[in-house]
Amino acid sequence: MSIAKRAFGCYEGQAVEAYTLTNSVGASVTILTCGGILNRILVPDRNGVLGDVVCGFDTMEDYIADAGSYTGALIGRYGNRIGGGGFSINGVFYPIRNNEGGVCHLHGGVVGFNRKIWAAEPQEGEGEDRLVLTLFSPDGEEGYPGNLNVKVTYTFDDASALTIQYEAVSDRDTVLNMTNHAYFNLNGYDGGSVMEQELYLDADRYDAVDELLLPIGDPVPVDGTPFDFRTMHPIAVPFDHSFVLNGEIGCYRKAGEAYDPASGRTLTLYTDMPAVQLYTGVFMDGATKFKGGVPQRRLHAFCLETQYSPNTPNRPTMPSCLLRAGERYHTKTTFAFGVRASAL
Ligand code: BGC
Repeated sequence: MSIAKRAFGCYEGQAVEAYTLTNSVGASVTILTCGGILNRILVPDRNGVLGDVVCGFDTMEDYIADAGSYTGALIGRYGNRIGGGGFSINGVFYPIRNNEGGVCHLHGGVVGFNRKIWAAEPQEGEGEDRLVLTLFSPDGEEGYPGNLNVKVTYTFDDASALTIQYEAVSDRDTVLNMTNHAYFNLNGYDGGSVMEQELYLDADRYDAVDELLLPIGDPVPVDGTPFDFRTMHPIAVPFDHSFVLNGEIGCYRKAGEAYDPASGRTLTLYTDMPAVQLYTGVFMDGATKFKGGVPQRRLHAFCLETQYSPNTPNRPTMPSCLLRAGERYHTKTTFAFGVRASAL
């Protein structure tokens, strides 16, 4: 395996680098030091032809111009939405910055982890390469309590599995919910709609949402609804919803799988997180252009954002995202790429 580094422009006067981790079959993952952005994932189709299965932009300027999609980026401190203007810890209310319509906090606020330059340490290895990214988020940033030291490790291996490990320690009790906002299209980011691509999710319940996309009450059963992905089938309709994953929370397990009949590519999802947001590019309008000028069209990609459920800090019945002072936050998600030999 090998790691190559190149310049990828500037962000707010700081140099941005692109690291490419390449495995022994020629598959590769390119990560930017700005936002820890997954810029390119080249994996083979069923005929061995490499294709780029993640949306992204050619230049830093394009990433900066595209403020709202969070394409490929690491998200923090809180992936997804927090309502009510903040949350309470130990009886103290912490107001946080509402960056969505002035009423909701989305993906970490006005300046989230997606807009930070991370320090990078490449680690080449036998059978797998790693890129270790670190960041310091000061007490009070975007309203969150606690000085937070964050470490995200991307690992890419010879079997074309991409694993993301999120670690952090805070000096005060806080909440934390990190994820990655990759937009996948297994037929290539320029490969058209993902509605024919198939999905399996090991989830018996999902969150119904209100007009602000905040959950209404407790999660509800998927039975008899389009949210039932317990048997693999085409995505078919738009989604922007959080699914509660089955299995023991904190236990790293297979949580889902996607399959593209056209290319034969598969993506198997493993995580120890309690939920996943399925987002199918509902708000993309074709105006923004991805790599090579490809329009960012509605429903041309899907995100599988592993995380705590939306608005968890204000939902006492959900698994808690509270991180106690001095405790170690550690979660892990894998996107394992593969192929099926022929369409079933
Ligand atoms: C959210 C969407 C949002 C998108 C881009 C997703 O995680 O669920 O509602 O539009 O991110 O910000």
